[in-house]
This record gives sequence, C-alpha cells and structure tokens, in this order.
Amino acid sequence: MLRRLHSVPGLVAGLVVAFMAITGAVLSLQPVLDRFSIPSTTNSINVAALSEIVSTKRGGVERLVRSASGAVTAYYDTGKGTAAASIDPATGAVLGDYSPSPFFAFFSELHRSFFLGMNGRVVSGISALAMVVLAASGLFLLIRRLGGWRRVLVAAKGTTSQRLHVELSRMAIVGLVISGLTGAYMSLTSFGLINAGAAVSTFPSTVDGGAPAAIGSLAALQTVPLADLRELRFPFPSDPTDVFTLTTASGQGYVDQATGRLLNFTPNSVGQSIYETLYMLHTGQGLWWFGAILGMAALCVPALAATGGIIWWLRRRRQPRIANNSRHSHADTVILVGSEGNSTWGFADTLHQALTAQGFLVHTGAMNEHAANYPSAKRLLLLTSTYGDGAAPASANRFLARLAHFKPPADLSFAVLGFGDRSFSDYCRFADVTAAALSEAGLAQLLPVATVDRQSAQAFARWGQALGAKLGNPLALEHVAAPPRTQSLVLAARTDFGIEVQAPIAVLRFELPEAPQGHWWQSWIIGRGLSFEPGDLVGIMPPGSSVPRYYSVASASTDGALEICVRKQVGGLCSEFLHGLQPGDRVDGFVKANPGFRPRTGKAPIVLIGAGTGIAPLAGFVRHNDRHRQMHLYFGGRDPDSDFLYRPFFGEALGDGRLTRLVTAFSRLVGGRYVQDRIREDAAAIRALVTKGAQIIVCGGRQMAAGVADELNFALGPLGETVASLKADGRYLEDVY
Ligand SMILES: Cc1cc2nc3c(=O)[nH]c(=O)nc-3n(C[C@H](O)[C@H](O)[C@H](O)COP(=O)(O)O)c2cc1C
Repeated sequence: MLRRLHSVPGLVAGLVVAFMAITGAVLSLQPVLDRFSIPSTTNSINVAALSEIVSTKRGGVERLVRSASGAVTAYYDTGKGTAAASIDPATGAVLGDYSPSPFFAFFSELHRSFFLGMNGRVVSGISALAMVVLAASGLFLLIRRLGGWRRVLVAAKGTTSQRLHVELSRMAIVGLVISGLTGAYMSLTSFGLINAGAAVSTFPSTVDGGAPAAIGSLAALQTVPLADLRELRFPFPSDPTDVFTLTTASGQGYVDQATGRLLNFTPNSVGQSIYETLYMLHTGQGLWWFGAILGMAALCVPALAATGGIIWWLRRRRQPRIANNSRHSHADTVILVGSEGNSTWGFADTLHQALTAQGFLVHTGAMNEHAANYPSAKRLLLLTSTYGDGAAPASANRFLARLAHFKPPADLSFAVLGFGDRSFSDYCRFADVTAAALSEAGLAQLLPVATVDRQSAQAFARWGQALGAKLGNPLALEHVAAPPRTQSLVLAARTDFGIEVQAPIAVLRFELPEAPQGHWWQSWIIGRGLSFEPGDLVGIMPPGSSVPRYYSVASASTDGALEICVRKQVGGLCSEFLHGLQPGDRVDGFVKANPGFRPRTGKAPIVLIGAGTGIAPLAGFVRHNDRHRQMHLYFGGRDPDSDFLYRPFFGEALGDGRLTRLVTAFSRLVGGRYVQDRIREDAAAIRALVTKGAQIIVCGGRQMAAGVADELNFALGPLGETVASLKADGRYLEDVY
C-alpha cells in the first residue's frame, strides 16, 4: 500500500510537483537577494520617526508598507496617480522609485496558478498535497528500506538510481514535507477553507478631530518598532476626523492624528499567527536562510522524480509474467516470492518453468498473496530476499501476518531459499525468519534453508540439484538474469602465476571494445562502450553455457584495458576456458556495476585484505589511489616466488605513495602464515586505524574471509566494535566467493 501510494501519485504528480518545486526554488532566491540588497535595520528608527522623515521627503504619502524581508515602500499621490518609492529602513531616506521585479512576479504567478487563474490555483494546491503524500510515504519507505529509523543515516546500497534516490531523499525530505504542508495550508486559506483569522478592527466611533499633530510626535506610532510594522495607512489629507490605520505583527488598530492615541486595537487571532508563521516558512520572507534551504530541497525534486521513475520502470521491466501459472487451488507445487528489486522473480520463473517441464503443476505468486490453504499442494517453495535490517522485502512484508491464518494440509512440506548479500550483517535473515515461522506453523521441512549470495546463478543451480534429489528428478536450474548484452573482448596479454604451487592463476588483460557510434542521446542511455571501475564485475559467458561467471575487475575503463585474475578450478567450465586463451583470442562478456564494493570517499585510511585472486579489485583500488590516502594491504598467497601477484606493481605503489604498507603471508614457506595470522599479529595497528575511521575491504575465498572476520572481531573487541557493527556502518565490505 505504502509503495503504491508512493509510486502511483509519484508518477502521475511527479511532473507537476517537479515543476512547482523548480519555480519554488527560483522564488526562494528572492528573500536571499533581499537580504543582501536591503540596508540593515539594526539601528532602526520607530514608525513615527520614519513616517515623519518620509512624509517630509515625499508629499502625499498614502501608505507605508514593510515586507517580511524588511524592505520599506512608500506609496504616494503624485497628483496624476499613485507612485511608489523604496525607503531606507535605517534612515528613512528615499532610495529611488520602487518597481517590483518582473522576473519574480512572473515566477510567483507561475508558482501560484500556472497563469491559469482559479483552476491553476487548485492544481497548485493539489500538487502541494501530492508533495506531502510523496514525501511522507517516501520517508516511511526510506526508514523501512534502511532497516528502521535508527539506521536512517547509514550508507545507502543498491543500484545507482536507488542510492541516488535514497541520498537525495535524506537531504531533502524534511524541507519537502515543510514546503508541501505549508503550501497546502496556504492554498486552503486562500480558498477560505481554513480561516486565517486576520485581525480587522472596527473604525473608531469617536476621534478627537482637532488639528493633526506632527507625525513624529504621535505616541502610538512612537511605541511601534519598525521591525513590527506591516502597513501604515495615512489619513485622508484635510480630513481631521480620519485616522492612521496601523497593521503590525501583532494586530490591527487606529491612531488618532491629533492626540496620537491608539484606538480599537485588535490583536491577531491564533489563526493569523499560525498563518504568518507558515507563510514565513513557505516563502522564506523574513527568514531568508530557511527559504534558501527549502529552495535547495526543492531542487532535489526533479532528480527524485527522475530516479524514482527509473526505479519504477526497472522494477516493472524485471517482474516477469509467469507462463503456465496454475491456479493455487490446483497446484501440487507452490512457489512464493519475496522480492523488493524483482530479481528474485526471475529465479522463481526459472524454477517454475523447470518444474513445469517435469510435469509438476506449479503456481507462483508473491509471498504477500499467500492463500489460507493450498488444497492440492504437496510442497511450498519460498524464494525470498532480505532488505533493511534483516527485514522482509516489499512483496513479503505481510506474509508472517497472513501465516497466522494458514491451515496447512498434513502432508505439505516446505523449502526456503534466501537471496541476499554477504556484505550485510543480517545475511538472508528473512529467509531464516520465514523458515522458522513455517516450522512453527507445523510444516515439515523438505530442505535446510539455503542461500544465494548476490544472485549467484551457480548457488541457485546447486540448490536446484538438492531439490531435484528430494523430488526424485534431477533438476537443472540454469538461470540467466536478463539476457546480458555481451561484447566481444580480445585478450591482449596474460601473465601466469602459481604453477609451481599447484594453484594456477592467470592475470588476463582484455582490450576494450570500440565505443559504438551514434547520437549523444543514445550513448547517454546505453552508455559509451564499456565503463567500469575496480571492484565492478565482468560476466564471462563460457562457450556452451548461457550462465555467466563473474570475476572482480582489477582495472578501470580509463586504464584502457579490462583486467581480471582467474584461478584454474579443476573441472571449472569457465576457468578452464579462460586459462586456455592466448593473446588475440576472444571471449563474450559484459560488465555488471558493483557500486557497493569500493572505498568510501574521504580521507579515512583503508585496510585492504585479500588472498589469491581476491587481490584483483584491491590492486585496482591501490592503482587508482591518486590522492595518496592511507592504504594498508594484507595479501596472502602460497609462495612469494610463485604466486605473489602484482609484486612489481606493489613495489612501485609503495614508492610513489599510493600504497602505505604491504603485509604479506605465504603459507608454503617454512613457518608459513595465512593472511588471518597477520591480522592477529597486527591487531594493535588495525585497532589504531579503525579508531581513525578506517574502512576494511576484504576479497577472497569464503574460508579466508571467515578467518579474517574472526580475527578482526577479536582485535576490535577493546574498541567495542565488531565486524557486524562496521558492516552496518558501511565500513566493512566483503567480496567473497
Ligand atoms: C537497501 C538494501 C538492503 C539490503 N539488505 C540486505 C540484508 O539486510 N541482508 C541481505 O542478506 N541482503 C540484503 N540486501 C541484498 C538483497 O537482498 C539482494 O540483492 C537480493 O538478491 C535482492 O533481491 P530482489 O531484487 O528480489 O529484492 C539488501 C539490498 C539493498 C539494495
């Protein structure tokens, strides 16, 4: 519901709201310009003195108006009509003729009514309300996505548009809620739907009627500081029974021009005070810096609308239509999907089609559509991702509540496959929660909970084998996310390591393909050639398979080559294929961005820990450390004479300051060490770095990463930090395979 509320009005109102926001941002400049162009009123005179000076300088003054930003304007009768002059609020001197800025007048009318009169005002009021709905629903989604309001400031993850959307929302959301609420309130008051309660006094029944006193001597005006003045209307000349009409920040009344007494003063109602405050907050008139902040928040709206539109479009595009979907009441196998970004739906579709091909009657639906019973079902297969702080993804957030009403048939069993990302502290937690809840509901467990890290097609295929074994039919799950647009990469050079220690590793450098020719807008949408940074992934399609194998990239596209490190796995289709390549040979590949795996910006030190081919992205980070921030690298191999990858490069980087310290561990030397042993020996140094805000980046095999995490937990204990707490803060990144 919340998502629908956020996306439907978001898409419909996005354009109008973005338009309103841009015009509002332009208008927020006015108070800022006024602030620097209007003379300061620190030594301001009172209203009596100012009026006296102005009326001696200009005859026929009809009224003095002070705007919220402090500008004073005198309107006077020239004999041929009314003219206006700008007045120095500090001295009363006439600064020149006053004419309102046509630029701001234009934008003001555009913002209020789109030049469409009453209809435009209605649209403008509704778009203010739409802004509130979008900002409020966005705030709740943001909190849910990040795992609770306490985590609202942690680093955002996801695709570029998702992260941009989160970052911009965080910056702008408070300002947008204030702009929207105040704008909606002002619209409602302008349509008379809310009473702004402006003070209106009754005209005094008796006035002195004697000869007018000098304005500067009128006691009631002497007591009003200029900062409180809104408007002073002068009495009609030569009518001693007329009075000054005084409107101040606190109310409205009259001043006898002969005695200077204040007559019939009516204080502002609470409604008027509220209106004035909200008007000030909305326009920044009288609070220029606040207006500037709101203006900047408003400038985020077009970018939010664009990134929000991209997220919505990608979600729609990736949600597959499941072919051959049986009714849930007929199905013998039910697949329920928990997904936020929709990638899990693709895996569910692959599973659905594979089971259908084997003759099962399969129903696939969202976990939130979990039915009260499945009369024909024998097995329930749940595929779910995890979001936020181990929480349910969007299509599963009502599942646990629905489970309370579930009446499972006695012979129904279940299996849960979790989709997640090991760099999160609550890796696939919702899959565990789901399995526990189903066991509690009395279902038998068909398979232990398994997990798929970063949408690994291989891990999914392994789970398929285990499921097939249980079903008595081999199940080959070949999942290809969306057919990737591959490019042909030509091997330019290779360097071999590790032959002597029975762990062959090849560092492969591929030439970048030629950038496609086309219009600027085509390259803007589809990108110009391959673009990547160290830590991104290249998917290689080995001949005879449609399932890509991913490798971490050690170079950036600006280096002019794509470099990877590949360990030869016995029987590994792709690694054996890559190890068989010679310069000039071609492979089909594509790049997958991995923006969550790179050093944070800033000056804090970076600790890089890797073993074997895990060194590839870390070497890339060192290579691009042009600002020479502190980088401490821990590298593990077998033998320095055989598999010390990037040895000459690291020597060079230590020399030119891109690498601060290199600590190596080789397991096949006498008294051999693993990289985790070095972490233990270096605990004090690592603690000192973490105290300085260091980020730790680990890449390599699962066993190595687990050992490193244990040692770090131990080392960081005295600081009250753990790997989990650093992960939650975005200060511990892992790329583990
Ligand atoms: C904002 C965000 C939060 C995430 N939180 C977690 C998490 O707490 N635990 C986890 O294992 N994976 C987490 N992930 C990773 C996703 O679960 C993983 O990418 C999954 O494959 C996404 O599947 P989906 O596209 O079907 O939602 C998170 C991803 C994002 C973008």
